[in-house]
Amino acid sequence: MTFTVNDLKNTFTRYTTGVTIVSCIPSGSDKPIGITVNSFTSVSLDPPLVLWCIDRHSGVFDAFVGADSYAVSILREDQADISTRFATPGNHDFLEGETDTMATGAPVLRNRLAAIDCKVEARHDAGDHVILVGRIVDCDYRTGKPLMYVARSYLTGPEII
Ligand SMILES: Cc1cc2nc3c(=O)[nH]c(=O)nc-3n(C[C@H](O)[C@H](O)[C@H](O)COP(=O)(O)O)c2cc1C
Repeated sequence: MTFTVNDLKNTFTRYTTGVTIVSCIPSGSDKPIGITVNSFTSVSLDPPLVLWCIDRHSGVFDAFVGADSYAVSILREDQADISTRFATPGNHDFLEGETDTMATGAPVLRNRLAAIDCKVEARHDAGDHVILVGRIVDCDYRTGKPLMYVARSYLTGPEII
């Protein structure tokens, strides 16, 4: 290989993304958990599919890989603090009254720009991550500006009506 892990990081960090909190209720638990994720992407309209990738080293890896469903909350421009909170190692709990429940039973942030509720359709090994493909059961969206992420910094996206 002609590149280092640092080269990879410096390359990936030049790609701009939105920011989401992916959440689930781990099997055998009744406590919602969430994690900050920017690997989320739309995949297919028919059937409606999305995916995101979870790091094998994450403390909530087993919980997410073992869950039957998950919800994706797409963050607003003023929610960088929530992104930072759910990106803090070991910090995956929601506050009292911070979540709603979607059709699959997955928890979702009450305050959000948009939400996607999924049944897990497939799990694919992918190096140090696992890709979790979700089939969309429900979605919703509101007017507002999305939170964006590039070069380890947060930006504000355009107003989406
Ligand atoms: C903007 C942003 C995007 C992230 N995206 C992902 C992701 O797609 N997948 C992932 O596993 N971790 C992602 N992380 C890292 C996790 O949010 C979190 O920092 C890490 O899981 C914390 O360690 P723990 O899971 O062991 O508690 C991201 C972090 C940030 C700040």
